[in-house]
Amino acid sequence: MTLSTRVITLKCRPEGVVDVNNFEIKEIDLVELQCGEILLRTVYLSLDPYMRGRMSAAKSYAGNFEVGEPLIARGVGEVILSESKAFTAGDLVVGMMKWADYSVIKHPETLRVIDVNKTPLPNYLGPLGMPGLTAWVGMKNIGKPKVGETLFVSAASGAVGQIASQMGKISGCRVVGCAGTDKKVSYLINQMGLDAAFNHNVEGDYLAALRRCCPEGIDINFENVGGKLLEAVLEQANDNARFVQCGVISQYNLPHDKRFGIRNIEHIHRKRIRMEGFIVGDHWDRLDEFISEMMVWLNSGAITYKLDITSGLERAPVAFIAMMGGGNFGKTLVQVDDEP
Ligand SMILES: NC(=O)c1ccc[n+]([C@@H]2O[C@H](COP(=O)([O-])OP(=O)(O)OC[C@H]3O[C@@H](n4cnc5c(N)ncnc54)[C@H](OP(=O)(O)O)[C@@H]3O)[C@@H](O)[C@H]2O)c1
Repeated sequence: MTLSTRVITLKCRPEGVVDVNNFEIKEIDLVELQCGEILLRTVYLSLDPYMRGRMSAAKSYAGNFEVGEPLIARGVGEVILSESKAFTAGDLVVGMMKWADYSVIKHPETLRVIDVNKTPLPNYLGPLGMPGLTAWVGMKNIGKPKVGETLFVSAASGAVGQIASQMGKISGCRVVGCAGTDKKVSYLINQMGLDAAFNHNVEGDYLAALRRCCPEGIDINFENVGGKLLEAVLEQANDNARFVQCGVISQYNLPHDKRFGIRNIEHIHRKRIRMEGFIVGDHWDRLDEFISEMMVWLNSGAITYKLDITSGLERAPVAFIAMMGGGNFGKTLVQVDDEP
């Protein structure tokens, strides 16, 4: 019997802001399983900003999506059929899969078996998954927070920002964040325990907002946004500050010649700032160490985590577009099918 699946493909490459017309949903036949392969039923898909880079033709560290081909995401799925000795039907796994109801996985060794009894399944794509590891690596390797220091986190209510901010609190820092709505700002202060926060869509003068919220300057900057916010943070940074260069989402939809040029780069040498970038993919070898520490923080309530789950594969493009523009509130996931 031939099985088919819905799959979302990249119809054409976006120019500027991503649009629903850049996507196409198709019904395709699934190929018969070969030795070593498995068939997965998608339960959750994670939508992340790095996918914007993969949608363009410009060289990306993560490899480009091809026009007409299915989009790929990190997801949680259930093994339906297995021709691999390492997996049996019913196993729950996390790893890369198609934006589809079902995926044939040719290299299942890239997937990891997970246990729903240890933590809810969405957590494997959030605090215990790639965004959590990103924040953990950035804070441990580059941020190196110390008691009494001021940490500033941009996009602080997002997938990575929530963890970076709360790790700062655990380390005894004064933590300040920014987010794009008053509701998010209130969540940062009242639910996540940040010391101060501001709405970057309301505050026109970022430097004034930073001076008000970080009167003692900034010792650690966890950079998720870039652009004119980064310029203001450089202005308010203290001597010997550490800049954890995680991402610059404010620039991803802009053509190269329209990107914001930082005008006060001289602060890096004058203030002896250490600015260091990193890619989470280089740090998967620390996954077990990260998971054991994060599991303790989650179970003790030291870290709380907000998810933003959209239902239905067909709504994945809309959820992705919303996330890129701040329409999400928490880690963006799509629930494609019921949990087992
Ligand atoms: N280096 C790595 O290996 C690595 C890995 C994962 C993620 N990242 C980076 O980490 C950053 C956060 O990713 P995430 O997955 O946690 O996404 P996220 O924060 O859950 O979602 C993106 C958020 O960015 C904010 N944003 C979008 N455009 C903005 C703008 N013009 N100005 C200010 N804020 C804007 C929006 O929040 P507001 O409502 O607050 O505006 C939006 O909700 C991104 O830059 C991403 O590329 C890097």
